[in-house]
Amino acid sequence: MTVGAGEFGDVLFGRLCCNSQAVAIKALRKDKTDMFALLQEAFILQLASCTEFSPRYIGLAPFWLLGDEFQEWAIILEFVGDRKKARPYDFRQTLRLTQHSLRDSLDWIYTSAKICQAVSCFHSMRMLLNDIKADNILLRPTGHGYHPVFIDFGLASIGEGITLAMDVNDRNKAKILKEYSHIAPEVLFGGETSAASDVFSLGKALSLVAEVLRLQPFTALVNQCLSWNTSERPTAYQLIDSMQWLTRSLCQQ
Ligand SMILES: Nc1ncnc2c1ncn2[C@@H]1O[C@H](COP(=O)(O)OP(=O)(O)O)[C@@H](O)[C@H]1O
Ligand SMILES: [Mg+2]
Repeated sequence: MTVGAGEFGDVLFGRLCCNSQAVAIKALRKDKTDMFALLQEAFILQLASCTEFSPRYIGLAPFWLLGDEFQEWAIILEFVGDRKKARPYDFRQTLRLTQHSLRDSLDWIYTSAKICQAVSCFHSMRMLLNDIKADNILLRPTGHGYHPVFIDFGLASIGEGITLAMDVNDRNKAKILKEYSHIAPEVLFGGETSAASDVFSLGKALSLVAEVLRLQPFTALVNQCLSWNTSERPTAYQLIDSMQWLTRSLCQQ
C-alpha cells in the first residue's frame, strides 16, 4: 500500500516478516536518482538514526513490486504514523486539528521549538538537510504537543553545502521563486546551501504554524528566518531560546 509519493519516488507501508514491525519502504525512481544517491541517502539516514529526530533505519532490501521504473533496492525505515490505518503523522493534517486555545498555542510553540531543536541537533553533527519542508517532517503525538521526525534525507549533505542545478533567468525567476518557495533565495540563484539556508526553509515550514496561531511575536520570529539577508537569520539554536521566551511571556499574560 502506497502511503506517500515524493519528488523522487514512492513510499509504501509494509511489515517485517520476522516480527511484523510496521515499516516504510522507500522506493526511488530510476529516472530521478541512481544507486549512488540511494546509498548516500541510506548512509545519512543511518547517521541520523542515532538522534531521536529521524525514523530508525532498518536497512536496504531488494525490491521489485513497482516494476522496472524503480531501483532494484529500497530503503526500509521504521514507519512513523498510525500503524492500524497505515497513515503517516502528516504535518499539515495535524495542524488542521488545532483550536484557538492557550493550551493548543503552547503545544504548538513547544512543537516548533522541538522542530528547531531537531535542526540544531543535525547542524551540530555538521549535517545540512537542504530540503526542510512540512512534507518532510512527521509529527508524532506525545499528549502535550508533537515530536518531530525528519524523514527525507535525499538532499542532505555532511560537512559542506550543495548547489541545485537550476538555471534561473529573468523569464523564469518568478515561477521558480514560487515553485521552490521553501528554498532560500541565495541557493535558488546558484549559491551553496548552508545552516542559514536550512533556517530559511525551517522558517517556511513554521510559517504554516504562524498562520494558524496568529501570535505576532511568533510570526515576527518566523519572518526573521525568511530574511533574504543570511546574516539576519537566527540559528536553529537561537530559535529554541526565543520560543522558550515566548512561552514564558504567554503564560504570564
Ligand atoms: N518513515 C516513514 N513513515 C511514514 N511515512 C513516511 C515515512 N517516510 C516517508 N513517508 C511518507 O512518504 C512521503 C514521501 O517520502 P519522502 O521520504 O519525503 O520522499 P521523497 O524523497 O520522494 O520526497 C512523506 O511525505 C510521508 O508522507
Ligand atoms: Mg520528501
